[in-house]
Amino acid sequence: MTGPGFDLERVRGDFPLLRQEVRGRPLVYLDSAATGQKPQAVLDALTRYYTHDNANVHRGVHILSERSTQAYEDARETVRRFLNAKDAREIVFVRGTTEAINLVAATYGRKHVGPGDEVLISAMEHHSNIVPWQMVCDAAGAKLRVIPVDDRGELKMDAVDALLTERTRLLAITHVSNALGSINPIKALVAKAHAKNIPVLVDGAQSVTHFPVDVQDLDCDFFAFSGHKLFGPTGIGVLYGKLAMLESLPPYQGGGDMILSVTMEKTVYNRVPHRFEAGTPDMAGAVGLGAAIRYLEGVGLSAIAQHDQWLLAYATQALEAVPGLKLVGTAPKKTGVLSFTLGDVHPHDVGTILDQEGICIRTGHHCAQPLMQRFGVAATVRASLALYNTPQDVDALVKGLHKVREVFA
Ligand SMILES: Cc1ncc(COP(=O)(O)O)c(C=O)c1O
Repeated sequence: MTGPGFDLERVRGDFPLLRQEVRGRPLVYLDSAATGQKPQAVLDALTRYYTHDNANVHRGVHILSERSTQAYEDARETVRRFLNAKDAREIVFVRGTTEAINLVAATYGRKHVGPGDEVLISAMEHHSNIVPWQMVCDAAGAKLRVIPVDDRGELKMDAVDALLTERTRLLAITHVSNALGSINPIKALVAKAHAKNIPVLVDGAQSVTHFPVDVQDLDCDFFAFSGHKLFGPTGIGVLYGKLAMLESLPPYQGGGDMILSVTMEKTVYNRVPHRFEAGTPDMAGAVGLGAAIRYLEGVGLSAIAQHDQWLLAYATQALEAVPGLKLVGTAPKKTGVLSFTLGDVHPHDVGTILDQEGICIRTGHHCAQPLMQRFGVAATVRASLALYNTPQDVDALVKGLHKVREVFA
């Protein structure tokens, strides 16, 4: 096991929220899969934007509108670089992963999914990559099909070929499971789908936070992620789509900025990506997201990935030594997500006792109820790691779990 690949103490010091006591103890934040904390660089960028540059984008002739538009479009370019997209026009700003998937459902889904067609997802999807497709299928008279997972939480790849049929209109799949941590072999899945001319949407909400992503290398048609999980502001997210694909789609919402001209008889829609960004966008959010990405690039995306694997190995070993603890999700390729049950103590009780110790973890179904059913549990406890977590955070968790065991002995 090697070290984190960066100065962990310095990185931790970049996140002011972590420097506090809660319930009389030092805060231990292990809920970054739900949302990430924000480095000072993001807070500063938001203050700077609102203090100096705030104005509506794309419309004004004045200097502030010029600056604001520049800052917003610079953020788009930063996201393009981060994902290694070919062209900044492939980056659409949305509210988050949920809206990105709904955008694809409302445009691609409406255009291409018809009666008797199929949409393929997996058994480890977040509700936001299940429900929009159920809605599309219900409206079209199409069928939702599901790639199963095995007992370790890996996709059953040998089932995929038979599930990709001549009726499949889209494969919509998560890159990393938020409830198990499993990393899916996206490149192999895209190759299988593309061999049958089936486009692929990747839910990247939990992958971009842990390791570098290259959409050209993955060759996916769509890729979605949320700014708030990537240590940026809430209310901003990204849909990447291949340019030709985006250009082929009808608009999403109607309103200002998504048009070239409007008469009472007819509207000519704007070019991509503005066609999909109706109304005043979250300018400050985009600026904050750009700052978050630049901060992460400064730490080093590969070093962050190395830290994730280093701490995951440490945490897995430490948790496995807790009597009665059962990890849910033991795929060989995982990110820093540790889902588990502790004997027959209800996960909610585990969470409540840990909270008294100043430890923030998540309990419940993690918006993945079908996956919980697959593993025969109603809920799990989930500790999720980020670049600012330390072995001491893991030690505090383990100590807290021993306390839970004492209480329920
Ligand atoms: C895998 C995955 N997909 C989608 C989402 C939804 O993200 P958001 O609520 O930011 O839209 C989440 C959030 O937990 C997630 O973990």
